[in-house]
Amino acid sequence: MKSFSLAKPSLLILAILAASACSNEQNIQAVDRVEEAAAIARVQGLEARAEQLKNDMPAATEVSAGVATGSTAGAKPTIQMPDESTIPDDEYGAAVRRGLQIANHTYKELPDNVGNQLNCTSCHLANGSEAFAAPWQNMPSIYPIYRTRAGRINTIQERINGCFERSMNGTALDLGSDDMNAMVSYMAWLSKDMPYGVSPEGRGFVKVDKSLEPDTVNGEKLFAEKCSVCHGVDGEGQYNDDGTYVFPAVAGDKSFNDGAGMARTYTAASFIKGKMPFGQGNTLTDQEAVDIAGYFTHLPRPVKANKDKDWPNGDAPKDVRR
Ligand code: HEC
Ligand code: HEC
Repeated sequence: MKSFSLAKPSLLILAILAASACSNEQNIQAVDRVEEAAAIARVQGLEARAEQLKNDMPAATEVSAGVATGSTAGAKPTIQMPDESTIPDDEYGAAVRRGLQIANHTYKELPDNVGNQLNCTSCHLANGSEAFAAPWQNMPSIYPIYRTRAGRINTIQERINGCFERSMNGTALDLGSDDMNAMVSYMAWLSKDMPYGVSPEGRGFVKVDKSLEPDTVNGEKLFAEKCSVCHGVDGEGQYNDDGTYVFPAVAGDKSFNDGAGMARTYTAASFIKGKMPFGQGNTLTDQEAVDIAGYFTHLPRPVKANKDKDWPNGDAPKDVRR
């Protein structure tokens, strides 16, 4: 099972790499091959697929360790948000629109499930469609995947709820609720021009060197210089009268909790290296990003209950909060 499941995708990937070096017409074929490779991986079971997807995974990935099977990076589809006029005028389209509304106005739309003052798009920038800001294209065809934090396979609905309980410091949506369906519908529509099951360009965040140690004294100084003008001196954010933010909180009770991915030094460093200061992504060095992240992630913030149940197999990364 094992050797069989690895051999075939590797050959296909070689074919993809060869094809993608050629002309336009062959590029169209290369995309077909990506679909083919993904389809084979799927029928061979989730373990083989997780291994293959691992090669496309970003710095802060949470997929289980696996054997490298080659890279599909050369064939990675570029991502963009489809034109909103292509949202159909039917029940599916209504769910897509609701999902888009929730993504951008999560705090206002779902007060029972959101315990801070953030929106999904506070981190999943540009409607969840921006490369290196953990874009959502193809999430409904990439999940379910095995995640080491949970120690089990997670569906896309469970992954979304992970961000509700941590990034939003809130509570899970009912898995079968209309609003959960709307979020998944929106992600499916975002993916409509993508080959099935393939990681989007810029999945997750840019990489930073995780061997760097944070200097939080320098981080505090840099935060004051480069971040506090928008996010506030203590990272508390800035607000309109109705409680929606002008600039979101990166610390304090209106921010994500200490069980969130963004509360981990190297995950936060990856995000801010690629995307912050807002509009000036990729201007910080790795060391500066790690220093700033080590500082602001450890400012006071909501505490996630039952964090000790995360990473049940004892394989927690070094920046996980306990
Ligand atoms: C405070 C920042 C933050 C907010 C707010 C947030 N997320 Fe996330 N989200 C993350 C981080 C960090 C990851 C992990 C990225 C990685 O693995 O590199 C993530 C991952 C995800 C993924 C999986 C991405 C992948 O490539 O596997 C999905 C889906 C997702 N979030 C959905 C949501 C939804 C829906 C909301 C709103 C209810 C939300 N997130 C709010 C930070 C956030
Ligand atoms: C010019 C204003 C501005 C500056 C300067 C800025 N940010 Fe942001 N930041 C934003 C905006 C705006 C968003 C949310 C985007 C949205 O809602 O569409 C954001 C989002 C974030 C988020 C994810 C959401 C949250 O609240 O947790 C983090 C973390 C973050 N910024 C950290 C930083 C850090 C660290 C710096 C300094 C290196 C920085 N930002 C500098 C405007 C800024």
